[in-house]
Amino acid sequence: MTRFSRLEVLVIPFLVLSGAAHAQNDLFDPVWAAMTQDAGGGSPGCRGCHVAPQPGFGRWFGDTRDDVLSYFLDGPGAVLVAGCRDSRLAAALGLVDGVPPIMPRDAPIDGRFWMDCPVAGLTELTDLGNWLDSLCVF
Ligand code: HEC
Repeated sequence: MTRFSRLEVLVIPFLVLSGAAHAQNDLFDPVWAAMTQDAGGGSPGCRGCHVAPQPGFGRWFGDTRDDVLSYFLDGPGAVLVAGCRDSRLAAALGLVDGVPPIMPRDAPIDGRFWMDCPVAGLTELTDLGNWLDSLCVF
Protein backbone atom coordinates (compact mmCIF):
# COMPACT_ATOMS: atom_id res chain seq x y z
CA MET A 1 0.00 0.00 0.00
CA THR A 2 2.65 2.52 1.03
CA ARG A 3 4.61 1.41 -2.03
CA PHE A 4 1.97 3.14 -4.19
CA SER A 5 1.44 6.27 -2.18
CA ARG A 6 3.95 8.33 -4.11
CA LEU A 7 2.30 7.31 -7.37
CA GLU A 8 -1.13 8.23 -6.02
CA VAL A 9 0.11 11.68 -5.10
CA LEU A 10 1.03 12.17 -8.74
CA VAL A 11 -1.97 10.49 -10.31
CA ILE A 12 -4.87 11.81 -8.27
CA PRO A 13 -4.40 15.52 -9.06
CA PHE A 14 -4.01 14.57 -12.72
CA LEU A 15 -7.34 12.73 -12.68
CA VAL A 16 -9.08 15.64 -10.97
CA LEU A 17 -7.69 18.14 -13.49
CA SER A 18 -8.47 16.03 -16.53
CA GLY A 19 -12.01 15.46 -15.19
CA ALA A 20 -12.52 19.23 -14.92
CA ALA A 21 -11.12 19.78 -18.41
CA HIS A 22 -13.44 17.11 -19.76
CA ALA A 23 -16.53 18.64 -18.12
CA GLN A 24 -15.58 22.09 -19.41
CA ASN A 25 -15.23 20.64 -22.88
CA ASP A 26 -18.67 18.99 -22.72
CA LEU A 27 -20.26 22.23 -21.51
CA PHE A 28 -19.26 23.81 -24.81
CA ASP A 29 -21.38 21.31 -26.80
CA PRO A 30 -24.77 23.06 -26.45
CA VAL A 31 -23.10 26.47 -27.03
CA TRP A 32 -21.53 25.14 -30.19
CA ALA A 33 -24.88 23.65 -31.30
CA ALA A 34 -26.40 27.14 -31.20
CA MET A 35 -23.41 28.89 -32.82
CA THR A 36 -22.99 26.51 -35.71
CA GLN A 37 -26.51 27.01 -37.05
CA ASP A 38 -26.76 29.05 -40.25
CA ALA A 39 -27.27 32.72 -39.45
CA GLY A 40 -30.36 34.56 -40.59
CA GLY A 41 -34.08 33.95 -40.63
CA GLY A 42 -35.26 32.82 -37.21
CA SER A 43 -31.88 31.32 -36.32
CA PRO A 44 -29.69 32.07 -33.29
CA GLY A 45 -26.62 30.88 -35.26
CA CYS A 46 -23.34 32.55 -36.20
CA ARG A 47 -22.52 30.41 -39.25
CA GLY A 48 -21.95 32.51 -42.33
CA CYS A 49 -20.30 35.28 -40.29
CA HIS A 50 -17.94 34.23 -37.47
CA VAL A 51 -18.31 30.49 -38.11
CA ALA A 52 -17.26 29.61 -41.64
CA PRO A 53 -14.61 27.67 -43.57
CA GLN A 54 -12.66 30.92 -44.05
CA PRO A 55 -12.74 34.48 -42.72
CA GLY A 56 -15.72 36.41 -44.02
CA PHE A 57 -17.78 38.90 -42.10
CA GLY A 58 -16.62 40.11 -38.66
CA ARG A 59 -14.20 38.17 -36.49
CA TRP A 60 -13.52 34.64 -37.64
CA PHE A 61 -14.03 32.06 -34.86
CA GLY A 62 -13.30 29.05 -37.11
CA ASP A 63 -15.25 26.35 -38.89
CA THR A 64 -15.29 23.24 -36.69
CA ARG A 65 -16.25 22.78 -33.04
CA ASP A 66 -12.62 22.25 -32.06
CA ASP A 67 -11.41 25.31 -34.02
CA VAL A 68 -13.97 27.52 -32.36
CA LEU A 69 -13.35 26.13 -28.86
CA SER A 70 -9.61 26.71 -29.20
CA TYR A 71 -10.21 30.21 -30.67
CA PHE A 72 -11.89 31.09 -27.36
CA LEU A 73 -9.64 29.11 -25.00
CA ASP A 74 -6.16 29.65 -26.47
CA GLY A 75 -6.58 32.00 -29.44
CA PRO A 76 -7.51 35.59 -30.22
CA GLY A 77 -11.02 34.95 -28.86
CA ALA A 78 -9.69 34.76 -25.29
CA VAL A 79 -10.40 38.50 -24.98
CA LEU A 80 -14.05 37.81 -25.79
CA VAL A 81 -14.52 35.30 -22.95
CA ALA A 82 -12.28 37.03 -20.38
CA GLY A 83 -14.45 37.73 -17.34
CA CYS A 84 -16.67 34.73 -18.19
CA ARG A 85 -20.26 35.71 -17.26
CA ASP A 86 -19.31 39.39 -17.63
CA SER A 87 -17.33 38.88 -20.83
CA ARG A 88 -17.84 40.58 -24.17
CA LEU A 89 -19.27 37.33 -25.55
CA ALA A 90 -21.77 37.15 -22.67
CA ALA A 91 -22.75 40.80 -23.16
CA ALA A 92 -23.07 40.44 -26.95
CA LEU A 93 -25.49 37.53 -26.52
CA GLY A 94 -27.63 39.06 -23.77
CA LEU A 95 -26.41 37.21 -20.68
CA VAL A 96 -25.45 40.38 -18.80
CA ASP A 97 -28.33 42.00 -16.92
CA GLY A 98 -29.23 45.43 -18.25
CA VAL A 99 -27.13 45.04 -21.41
CA PRO A 100 -29.27 44.41 -24.50
CA PRO A 101 -27.86 41.77 -26.87
CA ILE A 102 -26.20 42.88 -30.12
CA MET A 103 -25.52 39.42 -31.61
CA PRO A 104 -26.49 37.71 -33.89
CA ARG A 105 -25.83 41.01 -35.66
CA ASP A 106 -29.00 41.35 -37.70
CA ALA A 107 -31.36 39.99 -35.02
CA PRO A 108 -34.21 40.31 -34.43
CA ILE A 109 -34.95 41.21 -38.06
CA ASP A 110 -32.79 38.49 -39.63
CA GLY A 111 -31.69 36.11 -36.89
CA ARG A 112 -32.87 35.52 -33.33
CA PHE A 113 -31.31 36.55 -30.02
CA TRP A 114 -30.38 33.71 -27.67
CA MET A 115 -33.00 32.82 -25.09
CA ASP A 116 -34.18 30.51 -22.37
CA CYS A 117 -37.69 29.37 -23.15
CA PRO A 118 -39.18 26.42 -21.27
CA VAL A 119 -42.10 26.20 -23.70
CA ALA A 120 -39.83 25.90 -26.73
CA GLY A 121 -37.29 23.81 -24.75
CA LEU A 122 -34.52 26.39 -25.26
CA THR A 123 -31.72 26.85 -22.71
CA GLU A 124 -29.28 28.85 -24.83
CA LEU A 125 -28.42 31.52 -22.24
CA THR A 126 -28.24 29.01 -19.38
CA ASP A 127 -25.92 26.80 -21.44
CA LEU A 128 -23.75 29.80 -22.32
CA GLY A 129 -23.53 30.80 -18.64
CA ASN A 130 -22.64 27.26 -17.53
CA TRP A 131 -19.84 27.02 -20.06
CA LEU A 132 -18.50 30.50 -19.23
CA ASP A 133 -18.62 29.70 -15.49
CA SER A 134 -16.46 26.64 -16.11
CA LEU A 135 -13.75 28.88 -17.59
CA CYS A 136 -13.51 30.87 -14.34
CA VAL A 137 -13.27 27.91 -11.96
CA PHE A 138 -9.51 28.16 -11.47
C1 HEC B 1 -24.48 38.90 -40.11
C2 HEC B 1 -23.16 38.53 -39.62
C3 HEC B 1 -23.04 38.25 -38.14
C4 HEC B 1 -23.73 37.31 -37.40
C5 HEC B 1 -24.83 36.37 -37.84
C6 HEC B 1 -23.14 37.34 -36.08
N1 HEC B 1 -22.20 38.31 -36.00
FE1 HEC B 1 -21.12 38.80 -34.35
N2 HEC B 1 -20.25 40.34 -35.34
C7 HEC B 1 -20.42 40.62 -36.69
C8 HEC B 1 -19.66 41.80 -37.03
C9 HEC B 1 -19.53 42.42 -38.42
C10 HEC B 1 -19.02 42.22 -35.84
C11 HEC B 1 -18.12 43.44 -35.63
C12 HEC B 1 -18.89 44.52 -34.90
C13 HEC B 1 -20.03 45.07 -35.73
O1 HEC B 1 -19.78 45.58 -36.83
O2 HEC B 1 -21.18 44.99 -35.27
C14 HEC B 1 -19.41 41.28 -34.81
C15 HEC B 1 -19.00 41.35 -33.49
C16 HEC B 1 -19.17 40.33 -32.57
C17 HEC B 1 -18.55 40.25 -31.26
C18 HEC B 1 -17.56 41.25 -30.70
C19 HEC B 1 -18.22 42.21 -29.78
C20 HEC B 1 -17.12 43.03 -29.10
O3 HEC B 1 -17.24 43.24 -27.91
O4 HEC B 1 -16.16 43.39 -29.78
C21 HEC B 1 -18.99 39.11 -30.66
C22 HEC B 1 -18.62 38.59 -29.29
C23 HEC B 1 -19.88 38.47 -31.59
N3 HEC B 1 -19.98 39.24 -32.73
C24 HEC B 1 -20.51 37.28 -31.33
C25 HEC B 1 -21.42 36.69 -32.20
C26 HEC B 1 -22.04 35.42 -31.96
C27 HEC B 1 -21.72 34.51 -30.78
C28 HEC B 1 -22.89 35.20 -33.00
C29 HEC B 1 -23.82 34.03 -33.19
C30 HEC B 1 -24.66 33.73 -32.07
C31 HEC B 1 -22.79 36.34 -33.88
N4 HEC B 1 -21.88 37.22 -33.38
C32 HEC B 1 -23.51 36.47 -35.06
C33 HEC B 1 -21.20 39.90 -37.58
C34 HEC B 1 -22.09 38.89 -37.24
